[in-house]
Amino acid sequence: MSNATKETPGGFAVLRELPSNVWNSIFRGPLPSTDLERSSTSFTNFFLHIHPVKVNRHTLRPAYTLGLGLISLFLFLILVVTGVLLMFYYVPSTTQAYDRMLDLRGTVAFGIFLRNMHRWSAHGMVAIVFLHMCRVFLTGAYKKPREFNWVLGVVLLLVTLFLSFTGYLLPWDQLAFWAITVGTSIAGYAPLIGKQMQFVLLGDTTVGQEALLRFYVLHVAVLPAVLVLLIAVHFWRIRKDGGLSRPEKAAETAPQTGVVKMRKVYGLQGFVRGPFTKVGNVPDDSVYSWPNLLMSELFVFVLTVSVILVVSLAFNAPLEQPVNVMHPPNPAKAPWYFLGLQEMVSYSAFWGGIGIPGIMVGLLLVTPYIDRGAKGVGKWFAKERLLANTIFLTLVILNVIFIVIGTFFRGPNWTLVSPF
Ligand code: HEM
Repeated sequence: MSNATKETPGGFAVLRELPSNVWNSIFRGPLPSTDLERSSTSFTNFFLHIHPVKVNRHTLRPAYTLGLGLISLFLFLILVVTGVLLMFYYVPSTTQAYDRMLDLRGTVAFGIFLRNMHRWSAHGMVAIVFLHMCRVFLTGAYKKPREFNWVLGVVLLLVTLFLSFTGYLLPWDQLAFWAITVGTSIAGYAPLIGKQMQFVLLGDTTVGQEALLRFYVLHVAVLPAVLVLLIAVHFWRIRKDGGLSRPEKAAETAPQTGVVKMRKVYGLQGFVRGPFTKVGNVPDDSVYSWPNLLMSELFVFVLTVSVILVVSLAFNAPLEQPVNVMHPPNPAKAPWYFLGLQEMVSYSAFWGGIGIPGIMVGLLLVTPYIDRGAKGVGKWFAKERLLANTIFLTLVILNVIFIVIGTFFRGPNWTLVSPF
């Protein structure tokens, strides 16, 4: 029977067909079962078209990326969701902020759990984004043609740090107040414009209502918007740079045959019936994004959410006494990721707070433009990259040592103490 002559279904049939009609109105076809359908799913689905139709097998190796980029993204998504929920309760006022924290703990359903999730995801994101940068460096993935994506990554790391730092002040307890007082005074050590920068950040000469409002606006609106934009460009560049980095062999050669392939471009010719390798009979070392890439991503998502849920059930985010500007804790410590800086500041205010970190960020930014050799890309600790990796790891380890000293071995008046 043609559609034109098909009768309108009766009341019971409408109900029976309701679920499938709703489903089909959203997803036009069934789940893909042929190569053509798998290709067109990646092309036509709003959420999935960020994926290429096919990805190289090497991209899916958990031991290569360790999933760190994805975990960074998922932590950011958890932060957005929990952050928006927290905004329903929070008031950026020095007279109310702390009480709102107590409300979250005592009266709001799941309030403390929400705050825990937000706090632990924020710390986790700082650590994981840093580790993701280490993975990219140690596999040489910043090299041509990915130089600019590396630079974007460095900016992403700085924005992530700043986002976490601005959130630190919001509970308005002793920990928040003094950590931000110490953190922003480090910015004040910059020559010529240091004091002005500090003033612009705080809206005043000391941390107070103006600073709380500025940090709040930066934390809930400006910096997340910047991060969303930068992450979008970061992902777009991954596509445009030819997918993730991989060793020369994985890029050019089919492993079983050793046949050297031509550089492949996926275009509309992918829309043919039957397996992709029929086109030109080229030996192929790639797999369809649907379902291979999608399943790996879902796995990392479930893992990330599960870990955050468990940690948030087990540990409460700290909340100290309300702010008392007359009684600084001794020692007053910056957030843990800036404790390396604070430790260096104790030797030299300018070099520790501005000089060395400035040189480090500058070095990170120019690395892909001075390290031009093409060898050793796509492999952990490639022997061709021994020098670059050794320098990088030494600096990372030094930073970690300074953070550990600042966190555990510094007591009153910044004297050395034993944590045991
Ligand atoms: C909010 C922070 C970030 C997010 C959400 C993010 C996300 C991702 C994702 C999902 C990938 C692909 C999978 C993977 O490599 O794990 C990736 C790749 C990449 N990321 Fe990031 N990233 C961030 C920060 C950074 C940083 C700090 C750097 C370096 C300074 C960086 C540089 C790169 C580069 C060069 C690639 C391509 C790697 C390759 O081809 O092997 N990203 N990023």
